[in-house]
Amino acid sequence: MSNSVSEMKKLTLSAAACDSEIYIGRGIIENAAVICARRFKGRRAHIVTDSNVSPLLLPRVSSLFADSGFTVTSTVIEAGEASKSLAVVGSLYDDLVNASITRADLVVALGGGVIGDTAGFAASTFLRGINLCQIPTTLLAQVDSSVGGKCGTNLPSGKNLVGSFYQPHVVVIDPDALKTLPESQFCDGMAEVIKYGFIADKAILLKLASEMSDDDLTEVILRCVEIKRDIVMQDERDLSVRMLLNFGHTIGHALEALGYYQTLTHGQAVALGMKAAIKIGISLHVTEEESLKLLTFLLDRYGLLRKFPYPAEFIADALSLDKKIFSSTISFILIKTPGEAVIHHLSLTSLKQLLPEIFKEAL
Ligand SMILES: NC(=O)c1ccc[n+]([C@@H]2O[C@H](COP(=O)([O-])OP(=O)(O)OC[C@H]3O[C@@H](n4cnc5c(N)ncnc54)[C@H](O)[C@@H]3O)[C@@H](O)[C@H]2O)c1
Repeated sequence: MSNSVSEMKKLTLSAAACDSEIYIGRGIIENAAVICARRFKGRRAHIVTDSNVSPLLLPRVSSLFADSGFTVTSTVIEAGEASKSLAVVGSLYDDLVNASITRADLVVALGGGVIGDTAGFAASTFLRGINLCQIPTTLLAQVDSSVGGKCGTNLPSGKNLVGSFYQPHVVVIDPDALKTLPESQFCDGMAEVIKYGFIADKAILLKLASEMSDDDLTEVILRCVEIKRDIVMQDERDLSVRMLLNFGHTIGHALEALGYYQTLTHGQAVALGMKAAIKIGISLHVTEEESLKLLTFLLDRYGLLRKFPYPAEFIADALSLDKKIFSSTISFILIKTPGEAVIHHLSLTSLKQLLPEIFKEAL
């Protein structure tokens, strides 16, 4: 094990089924295999990655696992959201069978959120659940999707309609793996980082507003993961406080769906959703004006400032179709002040009435 293991931070997310060990530190991808060899009895590792990440990281990660005594096999999935499908999950099951993976062995998800969700869902269901190590390689995956145990796949009728709660046994977060990420993708992930700042820690926002070194970025990622870990440990199944993580996502999802997931990226949609939520909070006298200025500044800084591309009535209709809105009341996340969020119960009717005013001018 290299020296950096002693320098990395370890967080534990204690969940109903297992303790999820989360390691964070620059360069620690080098230690992923040693960590897994310590945690798991099985000596077969099946690495799942995508066609962009494969040339960058698969040879190195495969040889690290081989050096730690694992028999290594892999599946390379075509990069992109279209691969989040039951067909791809099905072919992944076939690969796991062909690799003779048992319940003692492990799946390694090496990639962004698409890989994490797909490999995670396959691991959660193959043989009723096998060991899972997440090695996230996008900013979004490092601060959000690799932690907390949600995984799933899309159906032709909608996104993330099939899935499970399945905590990864090990998560290895190496911010240096982000160096090859296209800038637009990095900025997209920043929307989630900004979200964490607004719901739980103003210091993140102040850091994002300043010039950040690579070490600062590592600190910010660590803080986001701590916030998510703490929230998930209180509410693993998303029944209460975990909803805070939906700040910006209710309207964000509606905007994504309206554009058939082609017009806005997830980060751009969440950015607009956060801005709308802050404006709604101001009009309900819950949110301080300061929040709008700070959010606008940060969205501009990370290239996330966009105009709402749809009229208010379209957005209201799309909200009515949201799978998380079961009744006429929405648990809508509002910001009191940067770093403090509340769950506000808002009727769908009131929200729809507010929307034309909120969307009256370009946000
Ligand atoms: N499970 C959860 O809790 C959760 C939370 C948020 C989002 N998600 C899901 O995550 C997915 C989006 O994740 P994403 O934004 O990471 O997208 P992604 O996995 O498609 O990755 C984005 C792009 O970056 C490339 N890439 C990944 N790592 C790279 C690297 N280090 N260098 C160069 N290129 C790299 C990928 O090949 C891809 O082209 C969505 O499907 C969303 O539903 C899940």
